Amino acid sequence: MSEFEKLLESYQKRINEKLEGLLPSDGSILSDAMRYSVLNGGKRLRPILVYLVSELGDVDDSSIDILAGSIELVHCYSLIHDDLPSMDNDDLRRGNPTTHKKYDEATAILAGDALQPLAFELLATIKTQDANKLAIIKSLAKACGHLGMVGGQIKDIHSGEIKNVEALDVMHSQKTGRLIQAALETSAILSGLDISEINALKVYGKKIGLAFQIQDDIIDIESPPSISGKDQRSDIEQDKITYPSIVGLEKSKSKAKDLSVEAKEILQPLTKNTDNLCDLADYIVSRRT
Ligand code: IPE
Ligand code: IPE
Ligand code: MG
Ligand code: MG
Ligand code: MG
Repeated sequence: MSEFEKLLESYQKRINEKLEGLLPSDGSILSDAMRYSVLNGGKRLRPILVYLVSELGDVDDSSIDILAGSIELVHCYSLIHDDLPSMDNDDLRRGNPTTHKKYDEATAILAGDALQPLAFELLATIKTQDANKLAIIKSLAKACGHLGMVGGQIKDIHSGEIKNVEALDVMHSQKTGRLIQAALETSAILSGLDISEINALKVYGKKIGLAFQIQDDIIDIESPPSISGKDQRSDIEQDKITYPSIVGLEKSKSKAKDLSVEAKEILQPLTKNTDNLCDLADYIVSRRT
């Protein structure tokens, strides 16, 4: 295992332990479903981004853990709803039955509904100047709202209307890129980075966010459930417009790789050591899960 893989594993362990304590554990069906949907593996990419950016600045550990956890809670809510029969109608997530299969649709919808405000409740407890806290809450709220993740998801549901790569890029950047970008931006704010660093990280995030969803589209075709933990060919069965469906598999792969290279170039002018963020840009387009 490379040093970078060891680092990823240590951050995964750290966030998994924190999430355990952030979630309710009152034994109710709602709390059980929330825990089931979050404490089930996952790559924890967004928390890892939060941690990697915090390495560039100065921040107390408990606040950065809360930020990392909050963003993962929003992501997990988005996955529960994404898998519903009225959305992608998938049975498998992170190698386990999707939340609506394990429980029922109403419980899955409500578990997602409860995870999202919990994230914002937690953000309100972060220890930083009020102006930073408000900027962080605003960044995450915008990233998951109608111009961000949810806006991208509705474009995905109506993806038959997408006729060209430009429109596809907008959908992918909204449904997946914006939350990835927000993980970088909010961590940069909390870690006290300066405005030029924050802006560079946002551009890096736009590029790796799009690359991440292109690779996700490739995984839908190439990775069996034993590797991805998800239903294979779900996009094809749902007649989804994806990168491979519009430009083909090979061009999708080269586009994802180009974006990863461009993302690394954005970081070059920064005076801080961004080696880990560069390794992450490589990881995003080489992953099979
Ligand atoms: C899957 O996200 C959904 C997308 C936004 C592409 P991830 O690939 O990060 O899923 P987990 O969290 O590792 O399960
Ligand atoms: C999901 O995109 C984006 C979200 C906001 C959850 P996909 O529908 O392609 O994600 P997977 O493949 O089911 O993980
Ligand atoms: Mg989807
Ligand atoms: Mg899906
Ligand atoms: Mg997918």
